Amino acid sequence: MRIDIITVLPELIKSPFEASILKRAISKGLVEVYFHNLRDYSTNRHKNIDDYQFGGGAGMVMSIEPIDRCISALKAEREYDEVIYMTPDGETLNQQIANSMSLLKNVILLCGHYKGVDQRVRDHFVTREISIGDYVLSGGELGAAIFCDAVIRLIPGVLSNETSALTDSFQDNLLAPPIYTRPAEYKGWKVPDILLSGNFAKIDKWREEKAYEHTKNRRPDLLEK
Ligand code: ADE
Repeated sequence: MRIDIITVLPELIKSPFEASILKRAISKGLVEVYFHNLRDYSTNRHKNIDDYQFGGGAGMVMSIEPIDRCISALKAEREYDEVIYMTPDGETLNQQIANSMSLLKNVILLCGHYKGVDQRVRDHFVTREISIGDYVLSGGELGAAIFCDAVIRLIPGVLSNETSALTDSFQDNLLAPPIYTRPAEYKGWKVPDILLSGNFAKIDKWREEKAYEHTKNRRPDLLEK
């Protein structure tokens, strides 16, 4: 998978890709991530990428021209499956979206700033709009980093134990069951006997029941899906 991230703040989004699982996915060649500074596509000598709103109103709007120049330069090199705009009024990211995105080959992520982008960018270049939740961030960069983390860990070969993504919370619209490690008893607090029994059929059943119970208590809406 190749991800091209268009941003006015590359320094804000680079660090998540320089550690842990994302770093390893990149060094293994399972994903390529490129950062494009939108200011490099400005035709203006001040490198401006935004302007005042037509009709008046507070807040600047990201202009169409530098975005067009950047996206068109990328599209001249290869085909893209999606041009995704990170925005609080997009569809809310969930595990199903992350699963489907992890199967794509080439993706552009456009990070918004200020009031957002000129509507014509959304109408003519963007193919999908994603929000990471019902709250407003200062820009799309942190949202894009979260999107990339959720998606990249699902690419086959990225997680060392490939089955572990399958048992994550949300993967079957269920939250994950409780987990324990050694010691089996700490300050009198015991690990459930069943997990020490060695009876894996029973353990699987216990985990399923616990996952269901936990989901019913905390996120009953997931069970309705
Ligand atoms: N940009 C600003 N807020 C955002 C959000 N909630 N999700 C994605 N991008 C954003």
